[in-house]
Amino acid sequence: MPGIVIIGVQWGDEGKGKATDLLGDRTDWVVKFNGGNNAGHTVVIGDEKYALHLLPSGILSPGVTPVIGNGVVVDPEVLFAELEALRARGVDTSKLRVSANAHLITQYHRTLDKVTERFLGKRQIGTTGRGIGPAYADKINRVGIRVQDLFDENILRQKVEGALDQKNHLLVKVFNRRAITVDEIVDELLSYAARLAPLVDDTGLLLSDALDAGDVVVFEGGQATMLDVDHGTYPFVTSSSATAGGASTGSGIGPNRLDRIVGIVKAYTTRVGAGPFPTELFDDDGDTLRSRGFEFGTTTGRPRRVGWYDAPITRYATRINGITDLVLTKLDILSGFDRIPVCVAYDVGGRRFDEVPVNQTDFHHATPVYEYFPGWKQDISGARHFDDLPTRAQEYVLALERMSGTRISVIGVGPARDAVVVRHDLLD
Ligand code: IMP
Repeated sequence: MPGIVIIGVQWGDEGKGKATDLLGDRTDWVVKFNGGNNAGHTVVIGDEKYALHLLPSGILSPGVTPVIGNGVVVDPEVLFAELEALRARGVDTSKLRVSANAHLITQYHRTLDKVTERFLGKRQIGTTGRGIGPAYADKINRVGIRVQDLFDENILRQKVEGALDQKNHLLVKVFNRRAITVDEIVDELLSYAARLAPLVDDTGLLLSDALDAGDVVVFEGGQATMLDVDHGTYPFVTSSSATAGGASTGSGIGPNRLDRIVGIVKAYTTRVGAGPFPTELFDDDGDTLRSRGFEFGTTTGRPRRVGWYDAPITRYATRINGITDLVLTKLDILSGFDRIPVCVAYDVGGRRFDEVPVNQTDFHHATPVYEYFPGWKQDISGARHFDDLPTRAQEYVLALERMSGTRISVIGVGPARDAVVVRHDLLD
């Protein structure tokens, strides 16, 4: 059962690291299949802390081959900065493979991301400003630059000319910025070619061969279900397929190779950036969750919006992704509350919705229908078996499981790597 997808259930930052840690040295490959350096994960190994944005977390595990799949958008400046920072700390990065079909983020994507957001004013998405949306827009618009284009200067020049043609009109006439020259982009991109060449591969073929050989391949999703460009809270989403289907299209292997779909869900909810969030809290409880859970963005440092657990969202994610196992993270952050509200349905202008409404206007106006669960006071960070948890914490978890439509296989009870209760092995 070697193909395992790990995806976020809510709006990101659910703590996917817990699941990757659990698979640990049983993993042979870790594939990033969507997004770019908009993601952010902090990995702590021993006393060392590593903040990664673009590279897959597998880069830190000696036995693992990390892969950047075709569905990723790669900013080469960030790629080499992260690689060099790791090498300087003695990490062997030589195994990294990068898809020849991945698209590149260039200076004009970063510029357009920022000016477009400014232009949107009140309607802004709150992007990370890393050029993600404009790079994916070029890909779909068929004017993107791919990794393989760096190795044919003639083609590269033609493609950059094509890409800049309309953009310069936009930059100069609409956004009042300077025009970008073909030469500056081509020169910058070519400056990466020699360093990139040894990393580039037909990663779809590599992964297919690895799966045939029985290797364990982990497909690590960036962002999360509610930020997916098709299934999230559009337009307040990222521009890639962050759901399980993206693992197939974004890495070039067939959907029948994905044997387990692991959804990571926090015991409460957070969101960065704009867009609807029915259970959002603006009171003391919200401040408590934010400070206890240390809910500040890894990429941007922004304080995250916080709210109670939303059961219809998990049920929706289970359906959209085909989740086989849930990892419930940060249960310990809820210790100490007298009662814990859980959103079980929505009220939209007097009408009850038991599922996430398909119509965005309804979701924007949705207010939560809460069921209240009695809280527990004990510190649960030492629990390693389900029975070690206070009865009320067990009841909370079992209620979430009943509402989710799938099983909760792992429960995160503290920040330490081994602070987990495993009910079902993710590789079983
Ligand atoms: P973009 O991905 O930079 O275009 O931003 C689009 C939306 O996705 C914004 O609301 C971001 O805050 C959000 N977003 C992007 N990456 C992440 C992430 O890794 N965690 C949480 N939110 C994210």
